[in-house]
Amino acid sequence: MLNLKNINISYGVIQVIHDVDLNVREGECVALLGSNGSGKTTILKAISGIIPYTSGSISFQGRPCVMNNSTLSYESGIVQVPEGCKILPYMTVQENLLMGAACRDEAWKKRFETLTWIYQIFPKLGERCNQQSNLLSGGERQLLVVGRGLMALPKLLMIDEPSLGLSPRVLMAIYSTMKMLRDKGLTILLSEQNVNQALKIASRGYVLENGRIVMEALSEELLKSPHIRKAYLGM
Ligand SMILES: Nc1ncnc2c1ncn2[C@@H]1O[C@H](COP(=O)(O)OP(=O)(O)OP(=O)(O)O)[C@@H](O)[C@H]1O
Ligand SMILES: [Mg+2]
Repeated sequence: MLNLKNINISYGVIQVIHDVDLNVREGECVALLGSNGSGKTTILKAISGIIPYTSGSISFQGRPCVMNNSTLSYESGIVQVPEGCKILPYMTVQENLLMGAACRDEAWKKRFETLTWIYQIFPKLGERCNQQSNLLSGGERQLLVVGRGLMALPKLLMIDEPSLGLSPRVLMAIYSTMKMLRDKGLTILLSEQNVNQALKIASRGYVLENGRIVMEALSEELLKSPHIRKAYLGM
């Protein structure tokens, strides 16, 4: 469904992504694992068309993606939930959610149906739908950004470090939602430093170090790997 071939990305003169090949098949949940600064967000942004790449190619559903065009990427169903709970602070919870559907015709037509579904998954958001979103706690904001992404009715959902700074309870809510979405057949690319958590729901993972993919394997193989156990799981 998603294919990255030989992607290189630079910020100014500094190259941060080197020769990345990555594939996600339809219905798969794949983890992109790596520590701070390894390049996870940069790769997601290139897939979303937010930043350009210097060479290589990206295709989605068999069609080449136009480089650096986030509108086209979003219209085609690629949706990125950004890291760090980026909400629209002076809009209400519901307005934030509606923004997720605003630029996809199909999603906009079904917005009220989808809102009802989001409030079922995350009742906290339903209870506070008319409150200004900057009144939400950090964990509630994370629910909101995931909900906003789902409002776009994504074909590929990319979630950037959802576990960052969350209490175990919110982490459970986020991960059980992702598991439910995966089981419903949604294609997910999950960027995480929390290797243990990510590999519980992903079937495969890529390990990114200093902008290069150093390993690609099934989740159970990654969990057994001495390198992963030492470098990411502290064993
Ligand atoms: N806008 C930018 N301009 C210059 N350098 C950048 C920019 N954004 C990221 N970088 C650099 O690119 C590298 C990869 O950053 P990126 O944010 O993709 O990593 P990450 O794996 O998402 O890290 P984290 O887990 O901390 O979010 C880092 O060295 C970072 O400093
Ligand atoms: Mg990041």
